[in-house]
Amino acid sequence: MSAAASPAPVLQFDERVANVVREGLGSRPKRLPAWLFYDCAGSKLFEAITKLPEYYLTRTERGIFLRASEQILERASNGRRLRIAELGAGSAEKTRLLLKAAVERQGTVVYEPVDVSASALDGAKRRIEREIPAVTVAPRVMDYTDGDDRRFHLGAMDEDESRIVLYIGSSIGNFEPHQAARLLRRVRAGLEIGDAMLLGVDLVKDEATLVAAYDDAQGVTAAFNRNVLVRLNRELDADFDAEAFAHRAVWNKAASRMEMHLVSRIAQQANVGALDFAVEFAAGESIHTENSYKYRPGQAEALLKETGFRAEATWTDPRGWFAVCLGRASSP
Ligand code: AVJ
Repeated sequence: MSAAASPAPVLQFDERVANVVREGLGSRPKRLPAWLFYDCAGSKLFEAITKLPEYYLTRTERGIFLRASEQILERASNGRRLRIAELGAGSAEKTRLLLKAAVERQGTVVYEPVDVSASALDGAKRRIEREIPAVTVAPRVMDYTDGDDRRFHLGAMDEDESRIVLYIGSSIGNFEPHQAARLLRRVRAGLEIGDAMLLGVDLVKDEATLVAAYDDAQGVTAAFNRNVLVRLNRELDADFDAEAFAHRAVWNKAASRMEMHLVSRIAQQANVGALDFAVEFAAGESIHTENSYKYRPGQAEALLKETGFRAEATWTDPRGWFAVCLGRASSP
């Protein structure tokens, strides 16, 4: 092809974003994946959510780590030095409690955050090594959500070391049960027998508490939800009127999940310029933007068992709102 026949593209966009938009907004019902929330503005809005009075998850799990970090590491370590890996680049504060407890136990610790975003990992490395000098951060850039079955490659360990992989914060709640199982199997395949997996899950509770956590009085969660449209406007030259969509949070009891939707207040059309794609909305039609699965007591343990771990211990808060479960990689 000659240069004249293929002028340089004017607009650069992420193919992964383009694909989910074409696919999700071309489907009925319309949907977008929850990972799309986390651009720069979305990550900041999520940080703000974790501090809201209604969003009990972060503070409840932190309470568990405040009380049980030493115990968790004691159970996980099996008398060896621990390395701490984490899926996601460490929402920091809760992870820091475990890292500090590990430094108390063993003097120094290697922390291995796994994330798709190299810049998030760089930030985590600088922050954590400055704050807790006894921690060496060894980041791994990897997309652990890509749905394939490749095993995890974490760093080689010394003879006297063993690993604990953290997947906390109810992050696993964004996955369908079968996807969650697939992800844990993949993690298990990268572990040695005796290594540990620490899973943080949000538990089923009364509907009013659940709904309030995803529809706060200040409207921060609504802004977080709408920000996905703002992102598409910027990244894909779309023209969504974000305010023409209502934020809706509903408890789907049958599926045991909180759902978030953006509901079109009127009949309208939006254009995604970069994809040359027009999207029609009927009044009241929704885009399903997130599932957040809530577990029943014993379910996280069952998930661990089903994916190659022995469920060894569970820590919960006094109200039984959140659970942190320790799995031990066992022989198949
Ligand atoms: C980051 C997936 C744990 O599901 O509670 C917060 C994201 N969505 N408010 C969750 C979220 C709406 C959060 N996770």
